[in-house]
Amino acid sequence: MNTVTVNASRRYDIRIGSGLLSTLGESVKALGKVQKVCIVSESNVFPHFGPAAQASLQEAGLETSVFIFPAGEASKTGTTFLELLNALAQAKLGRQDMLVALGGGVVGDLAGFAAACYLRGIRFVQVPTTLLAAVDSSVGGKTAIDLPAGKNLAGAFCQPSLVLCDTDTLNTLPEDIFRDGCAEVIKYAVLYDPQLFHQLESAGLDFDRESVITRCVELKRDVVMEDEFDTGARMKLNLGHTFGHGIEARSQFALSHGKSVAIGLAVIARFCAAAGVCSRGDCQRIVALLEAFGLPVTTRYPTEEILQYALSDKKRSGSTVNLILPRAIGDCVIAPTPVAQLKSILQAGL
Ligand code: GLY
Repeated sequence: MNTVTVNASRRYDIRIGSGLLSTLGESVKALGKVQKVCIVSESNVFPHFGPAAQASLQEAGLETSVFIFPAGEASKTGTTFLELLNALAQAKLGRQDMLVALGGGVVGDLAGFAAACYLRGIRFVQVPTTLLAAVDSSVGGKTAIDLPAGKNLAGAFCQPSLVLCDTDTLNTLPEDIFRDGCAEVIKYAVLYDPQLFHQLESAGLDFDRESVITRCVELKRDVVMEDEFDTGARMKLNLGHTFGHGIEARSQFALSHGKSVAIGLAVIARFCAAAGVCSRGDCQRIVALLEAFGLPVTTRYPTEEILQYALSDKKRSGSTVNLILPRAIGDCVIAPTPVAQLKSILQAGL
């Protein structure tokens, strides 16, 4: 097992390793003062891991309740959020009590936002069961729900009290969902770590789960500790996301986040190579690695349509967008870019 400690507005450990789900109860109890725990999960995940999570909590002497919602981004709404708050009130959770978010990014975002709001804030533990949640959404305290106007438009920064990443849970992931998480892993390598990039090139999809997740989490930990509230360095985590979000939204979310980010990464790498920002060789390696992981690297959606959705993203500030540009593998910069230039950038990258 590896442990990574985050020292942000709340200090907490991220534990990564095999068999950790069975330690959930003792781990939660060790956080202190808790009596009741509500497990928040979704319909696909709970049957796999819910009973073991609940048993572990109960064996530790904790009183448990369960809130399960239908799997999928379509559930990350105000309606589900209010249902969850009402369930917490009905279960009479108090200020010292906790939520356990058992699942992928949708569960973590929704449960985290409920924890941030219920009784003006209670503690929560993230138990990510997808690769994407393990390396990204469970770490760093971004919580949110979607509004009809767009994804993640209502939320809060609220750090968890613990992240327990049991790598065994990834064994039951459908390969397609595992690949989605790989897009974020490749993103970290392009952003910060040429050695990790090389490791992924050599190992392919068989990379060592525990060490690679730990490395990604360490990288994210460093960013979150430098810029918890996303006003500077944390923006770099949006590498591939500006056009990726546009493509994901244009597909009406039929194309997953990971695959959309993969296309966004390839687009920005190709643009950077064409503009002389990075070498053609680095661009080819990025695109080849995405392809080796079975991820898409282009789309047929018209540029105008992608742009329309990309520009409704909340990260736009006035007439510029902060694009993240690779100068080399492991070296990226934040480039405030006039909106008027995005069309030619996208055309150069597709
Ligand atoms: N997922 C990007 C961030 O946590 O900032």
